[in-house]
Amino acid sequence: MNVLELSHVYKGFARTEGEEVTQALDDINFSVHDGEFLSIVGPSGCGKSTIMRLIAGLIFPTAGTITLNGEIIKGTDTERGMVFQKPTLFPWLTVEKNLNFTARMQGRRHDAEYKAEAERLLELAGLSEFRNDYPHQLSGGMAQRLALIRTMINHPKVFLLDEPLGALDAFTRMNMQDEILSLWQRSNHIVLMVTHDIDEAIYLGTRIIVMAPRPGRIREDLKNDLPYPRVRTSDEFLGLRKKVLELLNFGQSKNTKEAQKQLERSNKP
Ligand SMILES: Nc1ncnc2c1ncn2[C@@H]1O[C@H](COP(=O)(O)OP(=O)(O)O)[C@@H](O)[C@H]1O
Ligand SMILES: [Mg+2]
Repeated sequence: MNVLELSHVYKGFARTEGEEVTQALDDINFSVHDGEFLSIVGPSGCGKSTIMRLIAGLIFPTAGTITLNGEIIKGTDTERGMVFQKPTLFPWLTVEKNLNFTARMQGRRHDAEYKAEAERLLELAGLSEFRNDYPHQLSGGMAQRLALIRTMINHPKVFLLDEPLGALDAFTRMNMQDEILSLWQRSNHIVLMVTHDIDEAIYLGTRIIVMAPRPGRIREDLKNDLPYPRVRTSDEFLGLRKKVLELLNFGQSKNTKEAQKQLERSNKP
């Protein structure tokens, strides 16, 4: 059983002018284990990406500890795979070579088991016919699907998704949500996904962490035990949606559709 734990995590960033520090995260505590899917929502600048980058080992906390199975995270590792909002592919490599990049580094490329999985993932992502194309020849959705399967193939114990579907159209996005869900259900590993789409957070997560800004804190850690596949129009789903919106201070007087739009606007980079 893999367990990821953040304990009293603080992160400050030095500002360029003067001695001031941006307190990006203030006393973050949570623990997540295999079989859990954590959705993280919150306004722009509340430290969502900072949490992901800390867990990925790209940056380090100012105070507090982050451990995976009791070991402090000391840097990046394929056991913690991250997918960014904009697909980070190697432009000079074909689809297939992008997918096999890590395996080639590790000399696993020609293992029968690995090859079978690469084929299956290419198929799943609808990329089999495009294996010899280059990233610039792909649509945004295809490139993002490649970025996802390229991380999936390493079987990360912790799968970190930082608004990975933000650039996709609504229909591709809903299909990708199902793909992420089925991947997670098969591997049963830990998934953490940042999103500004409340429906997406509720559709996917077994828990929803709602954050508050300046300094970034956890406002609420909500349990979501609605059975899968979830029905976006069910009363329970909509009830949870209302709760999340209220926690983000978009409830009550304001109409919820307008509130969601406002949140999306505030999250535009
Ligand atoms: N490398 C950095 N240097 C300075 N400030 C940063 C850096 N990364 C993030 N910040 C600041 O930390 C806060 C949280 O940022 P971030 O984690 O990107 O928020 P979110 O992903 O929730 O929008 C913001 O105020 C941001 O400006
Ligand atoms: Mg971010």
